[in-house]
Amino acid sequence: MHRKKTVSAYIKFWFTAKNRKGFGIHSPFVFKLVTQVIHDYTPYYCYAEIEKVRELLLKNNTTIQVNDLGTGTINNKTKERCISTIAKNSLKPAKQAQLLFRLINYFAYRNLLEIGTSLGITSSYLAKTDSRAKLITLEGCANIAGLAQETFEKLNINNTELMVGNFSQTLPKALDKFNQLDFVFFDGNHTQSATLEYFERCLEKIHNETLFVFDDIYLNKDMVAAWEAIKKYPQVRVSLNLFHLGLVFFRKELTKQHFNLRF
Ligand SMILES: C[S@@+](CC[C@H](N)C(=O)[O-])C[C@H]1O[C@@H](n2cnc3c(N)ncnc32)[C@H](O)[C@@H]1O
Repeated sequence: MHRKKTVSAYIKFWFTAKNRKGFGIHSPFVFKLVTQVIHDYTPYYCYAEIEKVRELLLKNNTTIQVNDLGTGTINNKTKERCISTIAKNSLKPAKQAQLLFRLINYFAYRNLLEIGTSLGITSSYLAKTDSRAKLITLEGCANIAGLAQETFEKLNINNTELMVGNFSQTLPKALDKFNQLDFVFFDGNHTQSATLEYFERCLEKIHNETLFVFDDIYLNKDMVAAWEAIKKYPQVRVSLNLFHLGLVFFRKELTKQHFNLRF
């Protein structure tokens, strides 16, 4: 989405969204999530070590050849890219990656999938929740995947499998490796058709407590349309729109409801 349009979407969102204290949220499940997880600012042990690796990537001026199989980033579509530029434009900021960490921690999820690894910074937050968790993360560009592997080595991460290739090929293979999915982070190829295709494939492996998180639901018109379509699926019970992230729960005991929340 054009920057001006994103700003106006954000302003509109801000005025309709519930505040951080959870006033006006009548669902006990969502209220607890807002007050105990979304707005928990405790610094967990792994935050600092992961952010140190991000800092190194942000300072790395080496260039690499990038094979971009998705929509690319708004600011850079060239083939040769600087590692620092990738680190600046493609990774989830600490605040959002740390929220994913807290959600996985809170629900004690173990079977984790990330669609879109990039340099492995958000993957590290997911993997660091519990050494007994299993993370599969998917990346299309071999050079970028090599850097992600270095990130995992620097952080002593041993519970992660990185699969390299186009999502259309790696996602079915990754799904075969899970009996059920607890948590999926959709963060690559931000088009409506691809997002809905990955969503539908992953739906086959959900259980009552599964959580799906979609990145950048306001990135472009396609993503706005994808998010609206996802909310309408009969399996979806509660959605939380945090503007940069969209959370989807499937718990049958919850009444179908959609929340916009300030984060
Ligand atoms: C936004 S980045 C992921 C960022 C990462 N989750 C983080 O927050 O640190 C998306 C990644 O998905 C990869 N990608 C996009 N489309 C793809 C596709 N169709 N198949 C495989 N990889 C793809 C890109 O190469 C890019 O590295």
